[in-house]
Amino acid sequence: MEKTWWHTSVGYQIYPRSFYDSNHDGVGDLRGIIEKLDYLSDLGVNLLWICPFYKSPMDDNGYDVSDYYQVDPLFGSFDDAKELIEKAKERGIRIILDLVMNQTSDEHPWFIESRSSKDNPKRDFYIWQDPKLNEDGSIAPPNNWASFFGGSCWNYDERTSQYYMKIFSNKMPDLNWENEAMREAMYDMAKFWLDCGVDGFRIDAIAHLAKDLTFEDSEMELNEDGVAPDWKKFSNRPRLFEYLAEFHDKVLTHYDIVTVGEVGGGADVEDAKNYASYNTKGFNMVFNFDHCWYNGAWDDFGRTKGKLPVDVVGLKKRMNHWIKGSENEMWIPHYWLNHDHPRVMSQYGDPERYHRESGSMLGMLLLSLPGTPFIYNGEEIGMTNVDYEDVNDFRDVWIKTFMQEAVKRHSYEQIMNHLRRTSRDNARTPMQWNAQPHGGFTQGVPHQKSVSNYTWINVASQQHDRTSIFSFYKAMIQLRKDSDYTDTLVYGDFELIEALDTELYAFKRNYDRNLVFIANFSDHEKDISSLNISGHLIINNYSTFTHILKPYQACLIEV
Ligand code: NOJ
Repeated sequence: MEKTWWHTSVGYQIYPRSFYDSNHDGVGDLRGIIEKLDYLSDLGVNLLWICPFYKSPMDDNGYDVSDYYQVDPLFGSFDDAKELIEKAKERGIRIILDLVMNQTSDEHPWFIESRSSKDNPKRDFYIWQDPKLNEDGSIAPPNNWASFFGGSCWNYDERTSQYYMKIFSNKMPDLNWENEAMREAMYDMAKFWLDCGVDGFRIDAIAHLAKDLTFEDSEMELNEDGVAPDWKKFSNRPRLFEYLAEFHDKVLTHYDIVTVGEVGGGADVEDAKNYASYNTKGFNMVFNFDHCWYNGAWDDFGRTKGKLPVDVVGLKKRMNHWIKGSENEMWIPHYWLNHDHPRVMSQYGDPERYHRESGSMLGMLLLSLPGTPFIYNGEEIGMTNVDYEDVNDFRDVWIKTFMQEAVKRHSYEQIMNHLRRTSRDNARTPMQWNAQPHGGFTQGVPHQKSVSNYTWINVASQQHDRTSIFSFYKAMIQLRKDSDYTDTLVYGDFELIEALDTELYAFKRNYDRNLVFIANFSDHEKDISSLNISGHLIINNYSTFTHILKPYQACLIEV
């Protein structure tokens, strides 16, 4: 493995809709990001992943693209995008775009043509199948496969009496990657943005490009929607890797860029190597979701209220599985959450009683791991899940289908508990800049309600406080960039200490230096005298360090 710039980069994901609204129409925009570049520079991050800002009807907040070559007016103009790329570069910050290649919007001109007739040249850009006929003559979807957003993964189109495939919402038809003209059009689009100066891509939903083209029913048991959630029918299929190799050869290999694929929950570390091992023609790394839902929120399904216990041993095991499983074979990114997951502060931290301590501990842990870290906007100030009391405050398209079934089986209170823990909207609330209305995100009406704790959890109150969560993120980023520590923190060996301890998260990092990271993941004191750790304290989120760790205390020690 050759050392390269994106190994030592510190990533930061921006959900543009909710980051900063410069024109006060209630939706964040590209000029808003430009205005906050100095903030990002101060934090020290140097690789921005920005969620889609292409032209879109916004059924799924931009993952339904209707024109890849234009910026949606909600977010600004193409000139704003160019200015953002340039101004970021001036500050040493590179930008990667979210490349959406699995589907378009149903309002994309390709789909409008495709659905117009069976013999349209674009018909085959998408996946069309005849209905199944029931015994009574009525029609049914071509097979029993489920969609990620609920219900069937097929939608009927009366114009030509066929179904099109859509593994997300009805307004997001899946592209047919068997079609060469479509693939070439995608490659041209990727080149266009690279030639505009972006430094790479996060590639959306990449595991799903290839489908089981027999379209046979799944044998899996049907779920409550009467469909089979058999994701293997359109995930990690062998043909996919042929498409990726072609994309690599025709586009990616010609640029000095970084690519991060989203492979989701279906791919374990061995599958991930097919996408990103050092000798694969794919991506530089892939995001996995293994650690994102680790507090049992889905199993609990809102039966209880409040914070769920954290399975620290399980969390360590999951993360270790990826770190050790990829050693010497594949580079990996690390992140606590993205725009599809709940806030890490609410999941593994303690926002009520130990906000500062648990938030800084989580940041120090993330930034002490090997690989390339990605921080999600707002994580650096310890933003939390929503506190909504009304289901109508949620915005996610997925919730509409979810509610249709959920109300039949669960009480309103249970559903609300569940959504407050699991909904994607938890990560999509307005960024909390200050204690002004809506956290200073907008002077208009925000597209989604803010979390009411913006009055005390905000950037203004933390940016200049040396003991804040923000300051610990900043200090750790500086440490990763400090040439004395970069090699050890980025490339060093990783070894868990006390892997079976249910409260400690501790590990060694070794390269040219020997570091020990130790964190108390609990809300009470923890005796660590048996570990005999002594050495030079590099960073500590409390003012003292003894063999009794305080609640959520974290330290990095040179031994
Ligand atoms: C993954 C994205 O992160 C998510 O937000 C989106 O809904 C789906 N892919 C579909 O593009």
